[in-house]
Amino acid sequence: MNIVANPVVEVDQTVYLKDYQKPSFLVDSVDLDIQVFDDKTYVTAKLVMQRQTAGDLVLLGRDLELKSIALNGQALAEDAYTLDTEQLVIANAPDQVVIETQVLIHPETNTQLEGLYQASGDLFVTQNEPEGFRKITFYPDRPDVLSVFTTRVEADKKFPVLLANGNLIEAGEAGNDRHYSIWQDPTKKPAYLFACVIGDLAVLKDRYVTSEGRDVALEIYAEPKDIPKCHIAMEALKHSMRWDEEHYGRPYDLDNYMIVATSAFNMGAMENKGLNIFNTSCVLADEEFTTDAAIMRVQSVIAHEYFHNWTGNRITCRDWFQLCLKEGLTVFRDQSFSEDLQSAAVQRIDDVAVLKAHQFPEDSGPLSHPPRPDHFVEINNFYTATVYEKGAEINRMMFTLLGKEKFRKGTDEYFERHDGQAVTVEDWVAALTAGSGVDLSAFLIWYNQPGTPKLEAQGTYDATAQTYQLSFKQSLKAHAKYANLKAVPIPVALALFNAETGEQLTLNSTALFENGVKDGVYLFDTDTATIEFTGVTTKPVVSLLRNFSAPVNLEFNYSDKELAFLMQFEPNGFNQWQATQTLLDRILLNDHVADIYIQAMKNTLPDLIQKDPLLASRLFDVPAEGYLGSRIDAGYNPVQIQEKRNALLKTLARELGSFCKDTYLELDPDNQKEFSQAMGVRALKNIMLMMMARQGDVDAFELAHQQYQTTRNMSERLGALKVLVWNDAPQAKEALADFYTHFKDEALSMDQWFMVQAAHPEATAATIAYLTSHPDYDLTVPNRIRSVSGGLNANPVNTWSFGVQHFIELAKYLDEKNPIVGSRLLQVLSRWYTLAEPQRSQVQAELEALKPLVKSKNVSESLNSMLAV
Ligand code: TRP
Ligand code: ZN
Repeated sequence: MNIVANPVVEVDQTVYLKDYQKPSFLVDSVDLDIQVFDDKTYVTAKLVMQRQTAGDLVLLGRDLELKSIALNGQALAEDAYTLDTEQLVIANAPDQVVIETQVLIHPETNTQLEGLYQASGDLFVTQNEPEGFRKITFYPDRPDVLSVFTTRVEADKKFPVLLANGNLIEAGEAGNDRHYSIWQDPTKKPAYLFACVIGDLAVLKDRYVTSEGRDVALEIYAEPKDIPKCHIAMEALKHSMRWDEEHYGRPYDLDNYMIVATSAFNMGAMENKGLNIFNTSCVLADEEFTTDAAIMRVQSVIAHEYFHNWTGNRITCRDWFQLCLKEGLTVFRDQSFSEDLQSAAVQRIDDVAVLKAHQFPEDSGPLSHPPRPDHFVEINNFYTATVYEKGAEINRMMFTLLGKEKFRKGTDEYFERHDGQAVTVEDWVAALTAGSGVDLSAFLIWYNQPGTPKLEAQGTYDATAQTYQLSFKQSLKAHAKYANLKAVPIPVALALFNAETGEQLTLNSTALFENGVKDGVYLFDTDTATIEFTGVTTKPVVSLLRNFSAPVNLEFNYSDKELAFLMQFEPNGFNQWQATQTLLDRILLNDHVADIYIQAMKNTLPDLIQKDPLLASRLFDVPAEGYLGSRIDAGYNPVQIQEKRNALLKTLARELGSFCKDTYLELDPDNQKEFSQAMGVRALKNIMLMMMARQGDVDAFELAHQQYQTTRNMSERLGALKVLVWNDAPQAKEALADFYTHFKDEALSMDQWFMVQAAHPEATAATIAYLTSHPDYDLTVPNRIRSVSGGLNANPVNTWSFGVQHFIELAKYLDEKNPIVGSRLLQVLSRWYTLAEPQRSQVQAELEALKPLVKSKNVSESLNSMLAV
């Protein structure tokens, strides 16, 4: 008989949506007093609470040292409550209670970047979503408990800035070189939106007058040297405020809006009411120090957090299963904002590229879950591409179906019904249905089940009847945890073209079919269906899923020639790009020959580069090795994919010949009027340089070196640096050294310096060892960790060889120090089981070996799911 030594008692920590219960007590008001000292912080809280339903009074708290507790003015005896590592429970509490507690916490040693933490020597900030507030004080820390917060913050005067949510109502001296300020937030909010900031920061100020005439003070706080890099964010903020008024009728509701930048942050940014806290990477934007892509991202994240004020804050989530209620809707809103900011087609291309590169693989692997999951162990593991990006796609589908006006009626109804409430995905769909007059309830299926549907379509032309028939079929792969998968409503935006002339045809769809095609959109919501177009005089070319009207895997028996046709003639820029991607998938995954693709590129590019350089730059997109790998479910050999992809790029470069150098020399970003067009030109020039290097043209290095030396623009500088470094050009070392000298005090630029080297296609374990032992490498700053890990992961051949060790070591190290980030990084390895042997078993063994070593719920939940394939 086998005797298991030291059996681990495994408590099932899974939380289920079906177990949701209303809180027994609500909080009418909360008064906080936060006193920060170098080696500790005291938090006093006074909660005025009222019973809502029967049950114990439950206050959640973690890592808190309880100093005192009183109920209705009486100190509470130790046997009057129970206290464990997660909660404080008072049984038989009266219906009206005032609870007063004092606790001691240690933000100065908090490395998890959750709750109140010291972000740097002169800055303390909070991060309370989803469950950080319980690390500040005992509280019913759940999103369906909304309250009015008054906050007193006290600290040494070496921290001149003391901020909290809402309006400043008092400030003054606190003795001993200390001072305080008192803030009151008039809007009821859940604890996850609470924030305070204690620090020594400079500020950029501006003002904005809302459509209602409210004069709002705008402030962005950052280190003094970074203030000049805050102007783009400030403009984006004002722009977002106007945009939400114009597109959703939502004006801002407080007299101030503050943003604080910190480099110690787990994610992008946080929408705390009136006091956003941002990762520096999502607020600092400056041509000289950050790339064009980063500048675009800053604008979209500023908009995202601002839009949360209505979709997230004024109307919040009932429980964390509903996370995609606020995130899916807010991402859809920020994507729409960005579409207005630059070319809508290119914005859509970039958003879909992200969806396909991250969400599709996630949804086809062991971490697959519905946009609204029905169970989880650690909610922090569910801030995923599925919740955010697929959640946004669901909203976009409903928007596509309704059109602008009806969608607006639906959102008006949502704000009207639910302002001030904590609601569910069902409430959202019901309000949208009521407001628009269109029954959208079938879209709930999208929220509730996992997996990317496969959409198979077939076209048949009947020359004598002059009809064109399209038949559709949808299916989903079975899922271990979610049964009864149903057909989903799929809006299929489509167009027909005359194959000879390239002309777009008017769509005559017959009344024979109950669901016709309206405004070029067909709603396919059954397992199979066929639609018919009449009066089609020649065999047409069909363009399906225009603008990617649904997050599905489309399989249509296009001929390569038809795809080449769409590359040239489809006026919808997104589908023009989509056609290149479909062709490339076939070349790289199904061994089609590249000739037709290359000829189509030659036909399309010269004109397009003149007309729309930004779109032209995207036509050069070739699916990343990681994405290609994610399309292979077994026997995946990363080296083979790399070789194929390199061979294709080499052929493309060779076939384009002198076009690359000519284009490079002819294009000048300074001749472009619009930022987005200049950005396109910079991207194109960098691509041309890379192509020249692939051609073996040694001039490429000289031109790259010149570009590096003469520019003041980070996209140009980095593009040149990549060409030099990734090709081991003779100038590479000097350029890297120069970059270091120039930017060593600019963290975001240095992130790029680390990234470029980690992303060298021929990087080795020694490269990574050099970077991670560099004095500027810092395991307490997630951005820096991600720059090396992300760079490394740009080359799956490296990820799956020496990279495995890197990611496992990181997960082990971060397990308790920063489990949120540790868990996310480990997920890079989630598709290990698709690898060909012997790699598959090797990685599996390493993951198994990690299992007994990890302690956090975050890392162990990820690891368990990853191994349960
Ligand atoms: N609500 C934030 C957003 O989408 C997400 C976020 C910021 C977050 N910081 C976090 C989530 C820390 C989990 C942990 O904008
Ligand atoms: Zn968000």
